[in-house]
Amino acid sequence: MTDFEGLKALVTGGASGIGRATAELLAARGAQVAVLDLDPSSVDKPLLAHRADVTDDASVREAVAAAVAELGGHGVLDVLVNNAGIGAQGTVEDNDDAEWHRVMDVNVLGMVRVARAALPHLRASQHAAIVNTCSIAATAGLPQRALYSASKGAVYSLTLAMAADHVREGIRVNCVNPGTVDTPWIGRLLAKAPDSAAERAALEARQPTGRLVTADEVAAAVAYLASPLSGATTGTSLAVDGGMQGLRLRPVSQ
Ligand code: NAI
Repeated sequence: MTDFEGLKALVTGGASGIGRATAELLAARGAQVAVLDLDPSSVDKPLLAHRADVTDDASVREAVAAAVAELGGHGVLDVLVNNAGIGAQGTVEDNDDAEWHRVMDVNVLGMVRVARAALPHLRASQHAAIVNTCSIAATAGLPQRALYSASKGAVYSLTLAMAADHVREGIRVNCVNPGTVDTPWIGRLLAKAPDSAAERAALEARQPTGRLVTADEVAAAVAYLASPLSGATTGTSLAVDGGMQGLRLRPVSQ
């Protein structure tokens, strides 16, 4: 018997990267898992797949209802992983209002919409847990990430507020704060850099472990927070960042 046996889970952005690794890990540990994604065409069994755009409330409500029905738990949902998100680069001067609204709409309101649709089902669970994918950008000042950081700072605060609102309903809410994770997203970012090998080396060097985080390592942290074994953990953020937030190392001497 594994810790997720018999539980029903929903993972947004579950067709790629961190979300995909999380959906696969929860399924391997016994959960029945549905993925919500803009493009779920690559998602295979045993994962269930539903198309949804987290910026569209009607699309979210429809997909959450369909996923919960297909999961077969008589309307019960145990785990929500709010993970869908997009990036943005630049200082506060570099993005116009439309881009600020677009990124906040996906990264912040997207989580709000999915949580709103899922809460009635989570209330029916004995082990309800929400895990939001936040970022080290919420807790450390990173250059060229003004908009993205503002969106993840909002996710961090939202996590705490939701944890307070729903603790007496038996719903735990936590977040993971990954450093730079080796996913298709980072692949796209590196492909745009003038020297992608140098850019990758700089990102690796920024993390005290000297390498990028893997999607599986973030998935393991999400599973820890979502597990019924973590029933006393709510309102926390778990760094999965190779030591980037907490450590201050001296340069390696030559
Ligand atoms: P990814 O780009 O590999 O996967 C993101 C998934 O979200 C894709 O499958 C995409 O189709 C889906 N998605 C995007 N917009 C959507 C929408 N409007 N509606 C529904 N689905 C949508 O990205 P990755 O790296 O796996 O990132 C996942 C989460 O992790 C994001 O919230 C990101 O901010 C966060 N994160 C990523 C880090 C990294 O270095 N890769 C570091 C810290 C946080």
